[in-house]
Amino acid sequence: MNDEPRLDEILVTSRPLANYLDFFNLRPSDLAGSRILDCPGGASSFTAEARRYGAITTAVDPTYNQAVTTFATMGREQIALSNDWFRNNPDLFLEAGQGDANISAIIEARYAALDTFLLDFEREPQHYVAGALPNLPFPDASFDLVLSSHLIFTYADRFDRAFHVLAIEEMLRVCSGEVRIYPLSSYLGVTADWFDDLLAELRDRGINSTIEDVPFRVTKNWTTQLTLSTGR
Ligand SMILES: C[S@@+](CC[C@H](N)C(=O)[O-])C[C@H]1O[C@@H](n2cnc3c(N)ncnc32)[C@H](O)[C@@H]1O
Repeated sequence: MNDEPRLDEILVTSRPLANYLDFFNLRPSDLAGSRILDCPGGASSFTAEARRYGAITTAVDPTYNQAVTTFATMGREQIALSNDWFRNNPDLFLEAGQGDANISAIIEARYAALDTFLLDFEREPQHYVAGALPNLPFPDASFDLVLSSHLIFTYADRFDRAFHVLAIEEMLRVCSGEVRIYPLSSYLGVTADWFDDLLAELRDRGINSTIEDVPFRVTKNWTTQLTLSTGR
């Protein structure tokens, strides 16, 4: 029997712009004028906050058919679940002094991101599109940059390699530039045993990939991002 801790559901998380900048090696000045898709957006405030820096943003997530009041309740429950997960799994995090793994500060930032998300979701619903990988409801090359955090590779215990190939190809279809993915291992910090083969398969399909360090330092093993492009 496998006695590893397991997340029963895919969490619908609320993360602020500052986290996204660190996941994806971006500066606020990189955002201006760029058409960016947050895929999946969850209850994160990237789409709301990045517009303040001139980005043209859209978020997509299967949960966006819900009313804002339902989303508010769910968002708070999901932050509570994340809090429990963090407190019950301290080994996943960097030791004190090695990074920024201050759980109380992270949870506080998530509540603030949720509030920003909810306000924008209610006032500017055109930026939030219901949809799911591997079939996104956007025409080809609709975006300059696609950011994908905490779904691809994170939940490799329930999405298989074939899903990952289809999902990555779909994100590239709707993108004229780069797809960036973070993190590259599961929520338990485990890299899928097919990870290198997947990159080789993508290369055979004409998809270039690079892995680089990112400044985000909270969870052990979550220190790199993957950038993919077709060179179109
Ligand atoms: C952990 S959250 C990540 C949200 C955000 N990117 C972040 O880093 O906070 C994972 C999200 O994936 C969404 N999701 C689940 N299945 C999906 C699918 N097949 N395609 C796209 N999004 C999906 C969930 O609804 C959830 O909001």
